[in-house]
Amino acid sequence: MMPTETFIEITYFIATILFILSLKWLSSPTTARHGVWAGEIGMALAIGGTLLYRGIVDYKLVAIGLVLGCIIGVPLGKVAMTAVPQRTALSHAFGALCVTLVGTSEFYLRAPNISPFMMAVLSMEVILGSLTFTGSLMAAGKLQEILPQRPITYKGQNFVNLGMLSLAIAIAVILCLHPEQMKLFPAMIIIPLIFGVMLVVPIGGADMPTVISLLNSYAGLSAAAMGFVLNSKLLIIAGALDGSSGFILSVIMSKDMNRSFTNVLFGGFGQIQAAAAGVQEQRPVKSATAEEAAAILAAASKVVIVPGYGMAVAQAQHNVRELYDALTKRVVNVTFGIHPVAGRMPGHMNVLLAEADIPYDKLLDMDNINGDMAQTDVALVIGANDVTNPAARTDASSPIYGMPILDVDKAHTVMVIKRSMAAGFAGIDNPLYYLDQTLMLFGDAKNFVGNIVRELSGGDGHH
Ligand code: TAP
Repeated sequence: MMPTETFIEITYFIATILFILSLKWLSSPTTARHGVWAGEIGMALAIGGTLLYRGIVDYKLVAIGLVLGCIIGVPLGKVAMTAVPQRTALSHAFGALCVTLVGTSEFYLRAPNISPFMMAVLSMEVILGSLTFTGSLMAAGKLQEILPQRPITYKGQNFVNLGMLSLAIAIAVILCLHPEQMKLFPAMIIIPLIFGVMLVVPIGGADMPTVISLLNSYAGLSAAAMGFVLNSKLLIIAGALDGSSGFILSVIMSKDMNRSFTNVLFGGFGQIQAAAAGVQEQRPVKSATAEEAAAILAAASKVVIVPGYGMAVAQAQHNVRELYDALTKRVVNVTFGIHPVAGRMPGHMNVLLAEADIPYDKLLDMDNINGDMAQTDVALVIGANDVTNPAARTDASSPIYGMPILDVDKAHTVMVIKRSMAAGFAGIDNPLYYLDQTLMLFGDAKNFVGNIVRELSGGDGHH
């Protein structure tokens, strides 16, 4: 029979391959479901292999952990799509707490007989783990609006924060050289715990997705460090994958918002929003009813639908699907223009539209659809705002200046479904709404789209 160790190594090896494939498959909507499966099977194998480990002396505690984990995890898996960012933040918080606790117990099991290398990775593990724990809780709290969303800044903030981080690193260095100074160890956890809170305090609620993705990266790196401490290749690889993918994602998100990474972290962005929101213009706009909108759509031959955060809030994706069906039935060519940062998390629109079974090949990236805008009869904007704001092209003083946008203003007619003239995420007015060819369709996205669909199908008998 195969020795248990070899069997564990094989499960770990297969789990590693599945994790890599999972990330690869998750990067396209057509293969994303496979990616989820690969990740889940990989994780099941990793847990299964670990449970066979001979070092486990008492399975009772493991069972209690499993039950507790299920009690917390199952409801977390059922949250609404719009709550996924804070849910993700909570998962990071739990992962990071676990890493910190493991690191702490490893330290007290081994100290003071601990090599400088081992102490270095252990320090990295607990510092990153504890700052990710409190940072992620703060991020989740801001997104869930339990904590104030607005950034809280004060003079010398970056100095204080960097000082705290440096202090924690200094303690790590001392412990590497003198592991017998064991009484310093708790400080190496407490300081980063405070640092995690202070790091997220100055960041506005709307920048949280970028921050969460960065914290994801820290959680991954701390898990990789734990892999060195526990001598587990699986943890090193999985942690490194997590660390690098989280970092790459944060960079992509910052780029798509046309903000530097440091601006997200140290800029106190939400403050600019608050200031800009005050100077909203009161210019006249044209509005239309669902009946009028339906007539315009029915007469069009090419329609581009641009979904945004409001579609997610209203959960209007299934009604949008009905609209897509009703228009395609009338031989209107309907495609969707997807902005990379529409909504509040990467792939937000793709996930919602896929949930409503809209064919993937109808979802076009910004770069692929902008060239068609001038030949488009109607651009129907559903709950999107910033990603269609032409000020990004022309107004150098705008906080979104330079952000690439969906050029809906180039379409013959623009119709915008939103509840009011309120601003979007960036807190700024949108000149699109005052253009001659623009019609505002005021209402909740779900109701309004539903009404248009009703008008379109009710109209069938007359044509
Ligand atoms: P936003 O600019 O946030 O605009 C959304 C609009 O939806 C609002 O103006 C709101 O207007 C409307 N809305 C809200 N609830 C609605 C409902 N129930 N029915 C109809 N309309 C509703 O959204 P966007 O255009 O998708 O742009 C995304 C923004 O988020 C960008 O600025 C981006 O940089 C930022 N951001 C994105 C991400 C990622 S990764 N996607 C991460 C962080 C930040 P009313 O209140 O008038 O209805």
